[in-house]
Amino acid sequence: MTAVYTDDKDQQWMQLALNLAAQGRFSTSPNPHVGCVITQGEQIVGQGFHVKAGEPHAEIHALRQAGDDAQGACAYVTLEPCSHTGRTGPCARALIDAGISRVVVAMQDPNPQVSGQGLAQLQQAGINVVCGVLETQARALNSGFLSRIERNRPYVRLKVAASLDGKTALSNGQSQWITGEKSRDDVQTLRAESCAVLTGINTVLSDNPRLNVRRFPTLRQPLRIILDSRLRLTPEYQVITDSTSPTLIMTTQTQPQLLARFAAYSHVSVLSVPADEHGHIDLNRLWPLLAQRGIGLMLVEAGQKLNSALINAALVDEIIYYQAPKLLGQTTHPAFCLPENPHALQHTPWLSHSVTAMGQDCRWILRHEDSATWLNTTLDDTI
Ligand SMILES: NC(=O)c1ccc[n+]([C@@H]2O[C@H](COP(=O)([O-])OP(=O)(O)OC[C@H]3O[C@@H](n4cnc5c(N)ncnc54)[C@H](OP(=O)(O)O)[C@@H]3O)[C@@H](O)[C@H]2O)c1
Repeated sequence: MTAVYTDDKDQQWMQLALNLAAQGRFSTSPNPHVGCVITQGEQIVGQGFHVKAGEPHAEIHALRQAGDDAQGACAYVTLEPCSHTGRTGPCARALIDAGISRVVVAMQDPNPQVSGQGLAQLQQAGINVVCGVLETQARALNSGFLSRIERNRPYVRLKVAASLDGKTALSNGQSQWITGEKSRDDVQTLRAESCAVLTGINTVLSDNPRLNVRRFPTLRQPLRIILDSRLRLTPEYQVITDSTSPTLIMTTQTQPQLLARFAAYSHVSVLSVPADEHGHIDLNRLWPLLAQRGIGLMLVEAGQKLNSALINAALVDEIIYYQAPKLLGQTTHPAFCLPENPHALQHTPWLSHSVTAMGQDCRWILRHEDSATWLNTTLDDTI
């Protein structure tokens, strides 16, 4: 499907549709974030976004608002309209039935149930179809959904809160708090956007975090995932006592009596997964497993051991690095503990997406070059 005709106006309306789509970023998963704007000439006659799986898609909200004004109108949609009947009816059919004459789409839906069929259906009905307007931004907005469908793994953001000398905890393990309130508020937003927040058992044993979203209490809570090969976790920790979010403990243990340790807690489940050659959880086999459980966007908030293992295994798409103006000195807790890399002086695969002041701290967002290539995105993709 190629763009037939597109101009600044198309980009302007599509940008509005993307802004609408972004409003669903705390609630739509496992579904994608989608926005729709319907125009008659210079006038917007309908607009909407997908709010939640099982509820109407963006096109349906916009069509309902447009009513009879949809006849002969142009629809801007951030993702190819669906052609199948899922929990809601097919949107391509709804656009045809409403008499829409032109449909501009940001990107094709990689979901095998749609994948070009929605666009074909519209064209067969005689509708003028344009695809690929602001595709870069549309892909970046749905990185979690796309990663799950196209790569069978979550899109992984690894968050680090570190001092100026790159340390993430004092030698006694204390890390609360290295960064300031603004950075910590920002992490709450990252958690709220994520399907899951994953950490290593040492962080749970040392910090006893809740790993939930407290700043926006009405929002859906992400799944908490704890990697605990030997099942060292016991019921007194907050990831168990706090039932506001579900907790999934991944372990290599298989004995039924161990796996039943948290049976009394309905929000806690334990899953036995394969071990790697060192007896830790096999991270390469974990990612597909999480994608199959509907995890798209995932935030990692772990210590240097798990962070380093994930970077070494090339399982991280973005590093979100909060740096505080503090010098912690000779602690044993650097952010990463990686083998020496002399090539790093010539080339870094980590591309700087943005650098933002967060009160006294600074936040870097870095994207791995392979992830940028896969997303087919430039670094200028902020909605
Ligand atoms: N400032 C920050 O941003 C931040 C964030 C989080 C934590 N921290 C600090 O980090 C410290 C803990 O760091 P840490 O490095 O000891 O712990 P960690 O990275 O949180 O957890 C490491 C543990 O995860 C388990 N694990 C399971 N599968 C693994 C795999 N494939 N590869 C690696 N680990 C795997 C391992 O234990 P088993 O194999 O026995 O399960 C391993 O010992 C704490 O002091 C905490 O305060 C700082």
